[in-house]
Amino acid sequence: MDWEYIDLQAKQWVMEAGDKIRDSFTETLNIQTKSNPNDLVTNIDKEIEQFFIHKIRKTFPNHRILGEEGLGDEVNNLDCVVWIIDPIDGTMNFIHQQRNFAISLGVYENGVGKIGIIYDVAHSELYHAISGKGAFMNDTQLPPLNKVTVKESIIALNATWVMENHRIDHNLLIPLVREARGTRSYGTAALEMVFVATGRVDAYISMRLSPWDVAAGSVIIEELGGVVTNLRGHKLDFLSKDSLLVAKPGLHQTIINDYLKEGKW
Ligand code: IPD
Ligand code: CA
Ligand code: CA
Ligand code: CA
Repeated sequence: MDWEYIDLQAKQWVMEAGDKIRDSFTETLNIQTKSNPNDLVTNIDKEIEQFFIHKIRKTFPNHRILGEEGLGDEVNNLDCVVWIIDPIDGTMNFIHQQRNFAISLGVYENGVGKIGIIYDVAHSELYHAISGKGAFMNDTQLPPLNKVTVKESIIALNATWVMENHRIDHNLLIPLVREARGTRSYGTAALEMVFVATGRVDAYISMRLSPWDVAAGSVIIEELGGVVTNLRGHKLDFLSKDSLLVAKPGLHQTIINDYLKEGKW
């Protein structure tokens, strides 16, 4: 498989999609709700997903597509090549802020991440990696991730951790929040993952995400020696929803061992 050619095509399409999204800033959005009143989708989310599907089908007719808005294929396994696409990650930010959102595109072969591309449209920052060939922000290669202690780390997580819920003891992370240098919450899983890749934050923790939120980011993080698992320390399958812990090496193990002890949830 010529991953460099596929990557080149994908990056061109992502840049084009970014232009389309920027053009939409002056248009009136058609906003609808999905599973609840705060789960938003716009005509642009759907148009961008459709744009990628059109390009992929024309250029790589044998590849399958798993997209958040469901316009691609019904994907029940990751055999052969599957594109996992989030046309806009951070739709709420896109609508309210016109920043802090990204296009996220991962290409997997038999379940193994080969290409990860995340485009921060508002800042024109393109994060990309081909597995085994380095990870980049625009043309700058990113250095491998270094170890960091909890005391020196900034942890990205969102406010679901302060609400009672049926999944996990919402008090579980209080010691981590207390001992870390700081916390941040950006509302876009894809960017929170690449912020770990660039060292803007040191870890990102989420209770529940979908394959399209994490597929591209995983390739980029792992290329830099970072660790991607669920909160039990198990690998993700990129087919089902799961929790997420992304962190620099060492810090990942510390968070699993010292803060997410099994049995407490
Ligand atoms: C959402 C964002 C958000 C995360 C949600 C995701 P969307 O993706 O990544 O940060 O907390 O769970 O669903 O719906 O804006 O693509
Ligand atoms: Ca969504
Ligand atoms: Ca998403
Ligand atoms: Ca989305």
